[in-house]
Amino acid sequence: MFMYWPTTLVSFGLALTSLSFVSLPSTATPMLDIYKRDDPAGLHDVHTGEVAFFSPGIGACGESNVSSDNVVSVNIDVFNQFRSVICNDKFISVTAFGKTLSVKIVDECPTCDSNGLHLSVGAFEFFAPESTGEFQAQWFIQ
Ligand SMILES: *[C@@H]1O[C@H](CO)[C@@H](O)[C@H](O)[C@H]1NC(C)=O
Repeated sequence: MFMYWPTTLVSFGLALTSLSFVSLPSTATPMLDIYKRDDPAGLHDVHTGEVAFFSPGIGACGESNVSSDNVVSVNIDVFNQFRSVICNDKFISVTAFGKTLSVKIVDECPTCDSNGLHLSVGAFEFFAPESTGEFQAQWFIQ
């Protein structure tokens, strides 16, 4: 792949006004890999998993929420792995059925698998009626 690349970005000290061809290797590092280098623990990884609902109360983060609040509980191992940051106003972006909702992490979920989430009833119903029970979604910690 050939791209115009301003010389100034490639090498300082060369003529500032010229442009030169720079050949990027076809194996140029994808953006995601660059991003991952700053996120070695995978805190912001994109997950695909089953989403069910729960009735929030006093969560593991110590906040008391109700079903109409846009809150979420995450798998207990994920919660524990990132415990130091996860209760610090962390939100999860959930996408399903072409819709996306941002929900605050307030609790751990012992019955969720590692890619699973429990949304508050209100947040669940943003996506689907409660009678759906469960649906698949893509999500990541923001
Ligand atoms: C959770 O509940 C607290 C009050 O305990 C409230 O201040 C907060 O806005 C609620 N969070 C969300 C995301 O609705």
